[in-house]
Amino acid sequence: MASPSLAICFFLISLASVTTTMAAAPRRPMNVPFQKNYVPTWAFDHIKYFNGGNDIQLCLDKYTGTGFQSSSSYLFGHFSMQIKMVPGDSAGTVTAFYLSSQNSEHDEIDFEFLGNRTNEPYILQTNVFTGGKGDREQRIYLWFDPTKDFHSYSVLWNMHQIVFYVDDVPIRVFKNSKDLGVKFPFNQPMKIYSSLWNADDWATRGGLEKTDWAKAPFVAAYRGFHIDGCDASAEAKFCATQGKRWWDQKEFSDLDGPQYRRLQWVRQKYTIYNYCTDRKRYPTMPPECHRDRDV
Ligand SMILES: *[C@@H]1O[C@H](CO)[C@@H](O)[C@H](O)[C@H]1NC(C)=O
Repeated sequence: MASPSLAICFFLISLASVTTTMAAAPRRPMNVPFQKNYVPTWAFDHIKYFNGGNDIQLCLDKYTGTGFQSSSSYLFGHFSMQIKMVPGDSAGTVTAFYLSSQNSEHDEIDFEFLGNRTNEPYILQTNVFTGGKGDREQRIYLWFDPTKDFHSYSVLWNMHQIVFYVDDVPIRVFKNSKDLGVKFPFNQPMKIYSSLWNADDWATRGGLEKTDWAKAPFVAAYRGFHIDGCDASAEAKFCATQGKRWWDQKEFSDLDGPQYRRLQWVRQKYTIYNYCTDRKRYPTMPPECHRDRDV
């Protein structure tokens, strides 16, 4: 007969093997100054720096918006930004945070925050382009007011999946469905971009609400600037084949039960639009939708 301590030992071993097959949350992002990872892209004078670049603000006025991009390109990794959206009347403005490759058959992973009139809710629109093809919009409301505090918005990207996170909640997953004939970003490095601009031709209530320039400048605040990716300017081939970084490991190849339940919660409570269920647009459901558990 096994002694009690042996039984406990077996119990611990089985517990350990259960935990190793479970999915894990991405590494905790580290806050670094803007200039460690990013450079301004356009309208340099509309970016303001505070606290040694640990905090920045993007300003939009009737003359121009502004934006910035990562200095390097990355093939896989974990990219995170803390943003406090334009407060008050932000109708017509769009704040974006996205990854994009540079060529024509481009890959892109998008967060777009559509502003609104004072006290009306923002919309978060996400999209994924692979091999130049997008048209995979999803729209949700957030479960908090994104103008009150900083929240983190991040992307985990590896060979198996792309996960969109809002704070620690996965709001969307795009799995590698190459076997179903769906292209997956795997060989084109991407840069990370962010911008604030006027999109009152489409953003708020489908373009019905116009930007009120009397309320300008519109200001979005940023901090965090965390990037933990394989720098492709070093060696893209190495990034694609190495498979040894933390995000390549098994526990990051799929969401686990609790993470799927949180995703489910977002879907049930906050979804406004999902291309997967738009039968007018897609009489046949796009093949990735089942695998992504979008329906
Ligand atoms: C803005 O508020 C209106 C009214 O509450 C809502 O219908 C809409 O979805 C909100 N968001 C955007 C970006 O239009």
